[in-house]
Amino acid sequence: MKTQYYTATSLDGFIATEDDSLEWLFTLGELGESSYPEFIAEVGALAMGSSTYEWMLRNADKVAAETGSAWPYTQPVWVFSTRSLSPIEGADVRFVQGDVREVHAAMAGEAGGKNLWIVGGGDLAGQFYDAGLLDEMIVQVGSVTLGQGKPLFPRRVLSPTLKLTTVRQMGAGMVELRYEVSRGDESKA
Ligand SMILES: NC(=O)c1ccc[n+]([C@@H]2O[C@H](COP(=O)([O-])OP(=O)(O)OC[C@H]3O[C@@H](n4cnc5c(N)ncnc54)[C@H](OP(=O)(O)O)[C@@H]3O)[C@@H](O)[C@H]2O)c1
Repeated sequence: MKTQYYTATSLDGFIATEDDSLEWLFTLGELGESSYPEFIAEVGALAMGSSTYEWMLRNADKVAAETGSAWPYTQPVWVFSTRSLSPIEGADVRFVQGDVREVHAAMAGEAGGKNLWIVGGGDLAGQFYDAGLLDEMIVQVGSVTLGQGKPLFPRRVLSPTLKLTTVRQMGAGMVELRYEVSRGDESKA
């Protein structure tokens, strides 16, 4: 069982525009042609921050067109927020806040030995990293720059903590990079 941060990013390190748009992403490739189907098949539990959850709520039609369902996850999802958010009918969503370590333990308990997906955003993935709980980063780097936006991973991580394990080109629009994250924190600064 691995804890994985799997996300798409612009070449300059943003996962969404400042106003949470992902329009730039949808022109870059087809979900079905990416590693997503094989990735999600091995995921047993998900965690996301409130902006990511609210994006799903606002873009239910687009998500349904892309995946066949407005809430495409059959696995349990932990949503981090200090606010009270609307649930989605039929979705197995648990609203949580605070320390990621307790949530990680709860996720691991329900994932049936499968992987844990930290969907985003970048700071939430960073909180799992800070707690020594992040094992892998899988990043699809799109052939676009945004100039500014929501950061991929607002942490300073120095070599050799991230070890590049695979590189996979997906046409002219994207490349997928996989990094193993060492658990030791000796190179954090
Ligand atoms: N490119 C991609 O593949 C990809 C992947 C994932 C997400 N996205 C997009 O990227 C954007 C990410 O937005 P974001 O950077 O703002 O990150 P986010 O993690 O989605 O949302 C951040 C918010 O989550 C809540 N939160 C985070 N950690 C918490 C904790 N420990 N306890 C309680 N609440 C916590 C806080 O909000 P409140 O307390 O105010 O609720 C915080 O402001 C979204 O637009 C999303 O759709 C893109």
